[in-house]
Amino acid sequence: MSDNGPYRILCVCLGNICRSPTAEVVLRHIVEASKLNIMVDSAGTSNYHIGEAPDERSQRYAQKRGYELSSLCGRQLITRDFIKFDLILAMDAQNLEQINRLKKVAEAEFGINALKAKIAMMTAHDQSQQNVAIADPYYGEGRGFEHVLDQCESASHAWVNYFQKHHIG
Ligand code: 4NP
Repeated sequence: MSDNGPYRILCVCLGNICRSPTAEVVLRHIVEASKLNIMVDSAGTSNYHIGEAPDERSQRYAQKRGYELSSLCGRQLITRDFIKFDLILAMDAQNLEQINRLKKVAEAEFGINALKAKIAMMTAHDQSQQNVAIADPYYGEGRGFEHVLDQCESASHAWVNYFQKHHIG
């Protein structure tokens, strides 16, 4: 385990094609604007969309706000992520449950002391939507994708305020 390098955050949803890639890019944008030494990645709890680019609707609605998702590639959460990352952010309660389930596997594989990732909801520090789910837009309409962006922007600002207050990154 090393304390060198940036603070590492992994955003996690089900498919890694809608919510978590959006959260990744929005959080990275706000972290960079705040000059924090933090890297951001994303993954899905499922294997449904491994190797795929983000959902075309997520890309399009994000692009309208200046966020570029096109180069991202879907991947599944793996046990090593609990060693590599400092913070794993769940988009909803089901994601949180799956993350905690895989954490048990990681503990058995690497030993409890090897794991460093804290686990929280994406909205954990956002007073306007505290611990509320980032709503899954996959089966809905365009408005759902706008709502994901609104939620991710608000939640990311709250996390950056938290990091600044606690001298993280
Ligand atoms: P995401 O959205 O978890 O925000 O990436 C979904 C993507 C795919 C599916 C469900 C949700 N799916 O059932 O394939």
